[in-house]
Amino acid sequence: MEKQPLFELKNLSFSYPRSSRPAVERASFLLYPGEIFGLVGESGSGKSTLAKLLCGRYAAPAGQLFYGGKDTADFSSAERKAWRQSTQLVSQSASASLSPRMSVQKILEEPFRIAGTYRQKDARAVRILELIHAVGLCGEHLARLPGELSGGQRQRVAIARSLAMEPAYLVADEPVSSLDASLQAQVLALLLAQRKKSGMGVLFIAHDLGLVQQFCGRVGVMWQGKLVELARTEELFDSPQHPYTKRLLAARLSPDPAVHLSLSEEIAAAPSGAWEETSPGHFLMA
Ligand SMILES: Nc1ncnc2c1ncn2[C@@H]1O[C@H](COP(=O)(O)OP(=O)(O)OP(=O)(O)O)[C@@H](O)[C@H]1O
Ligand SMILES: [Mg+2]
Repeated sequence: MEKQPLFELKNLSFSYPRSSRPAVERASFLLYPGEIFGLVGESGSGKSTLAKLLCGRYAAPAGQLFYGGKDTADFSSAERKAWRQSTQLVSQSASASLSPRMSVQKILEEPFRIAGTYRQKDARAVRILELIHAVGLCGEHLARLPGELSGGQRQRVAIARSLAMEPAYLVADEPVSSLDASLQAQVLALLLAQRKKSGMGVLFIAHDLGLVQQFCGRVGVMWQGKLVELARTEELFDSPQHPYTKRLLAARLSPDPAVHLSLSEEIAAAPSGAWEETSPGHFLMA
């Protein structure tokens, strides 16, 4: 039997008011439990907009988003609430959403209070310490207010809070780009541990292709609001097919502007029509 996806989107589109072009145009893909799906693409290509759509922050006017096999557009308010609770969005600026007057301890207790988990005080204290250690902080930080932490420390508290919710899936929008390499690795290890523990799925948005290559099973490439290519990570890095993907990968290996320029012409001429499977699991907008 095929595994039930955590979410599936079909031809999802979204436009901001007063903009001539959709920020996300007919995006289709799905995420399985325990899967880490990377989303890459140039600045302004629609990654963060897609992230917000997937967490129910915006309602899509066109296309469908299925959660638990049901179209989220048909959700009752109770179902919508349950869905919103089982998805978490961690953005690069997640730390801005920490309430300034709550101690780190209180911030990390709140998810358990909302979800009604870890009601027993001792068990809750153990879990909170586990989380705070996992993001490289210590017990001493629990008494502090967000304003008494560094930016990277605040970001780590925000990540710990999202994981405390034990989401079915986490949408991580450049969650570690403000952290140094060793902390990045530590936070990513935490995501892997949570995935192992609960089967959490992760949509991982990153500019760092090295991280994506290491960390993700499949990758989707966005360009101008469209998902133009999707494949298993190895396949995508070994044989990119869309000219934009080629440019993205070429820029990493050789910053030669001439290569860049010729690929730009190819990109401009790239068709953006039907979605084609060029080899098993490798999809291309052709
Ligand atoms: N609140 C908003 N109102 C109007 N337009 C917006 C808004 N947020 C984003 N956009 C536009 O939507 C498009 C997609 O933006 P989005 O933030 O999704 O891109 P992104 O791929 O996340 O880029 P980056 O890599 O820079 O974070 C851009 O053209 C952007 O200008
Ligand atoms: Mg973004």
